[in-house]
Amino acid sequence: MEKTFLMVKPDGVQRNLIGEIVSRFEQKGFQLVGAKLMNVSRELAEEHYAEHKERPFFGELVDFITSGPVFAMVWQGNNVISTARSMMGKTNPADAASGTIRGDFATSVGMNIIHGSDSLESAEREINLWFGEGEVLSYEKTI
Ligand code: CMP
Repeated sequence: MEKTFLMVKPDGVQRNLIGEIVSRFEQKGFQLVGAKLMNVSRELAEEHYAEHKERPFFGELVDFITSGPVFAMVWQGNNVISTARSMMGKTNPADAASGTIRGDFATSVGMNIIHGSDSLESAEREINLWFGEGEVLSYEKTI
């Protein structure tokens, strides 16, 4: 089953949006298989955002993501990678449609509430980067 890495960024945590965001993915029908509230080291932030290393905003990006706890998650389901991206909305909240997470809750491209993997390759890379063995579960409904 397809899996993706999603992260509520420090702005989403501090604005008490974890519940709202988790609820949207639960109601869509995806399954939460990994989650943790954590502080992010500079090393992890730089590795996570390595593809943006040459961008002028790289330092700002790393400063922001290490500025307070994030809520890191792994979600599972049919086409979860692309569907989660649609539910998040465009990277720049100014372009994100109403009804999407960024469209409903954000105004700034830097503080855009949530990160989600953009491809199968990045989902695998990011899940392995953020979650250790045994932290991603596999379970069937029993009730
Ligand atoms: P994210 O999906 O986490 O992946 C890379 C992040 O870079 C992106 O969300 C934005 O939050 C951030 N970003 C993109 N463009 C800019 C910018 N011009 N200034 C600051 N941050 C940016």
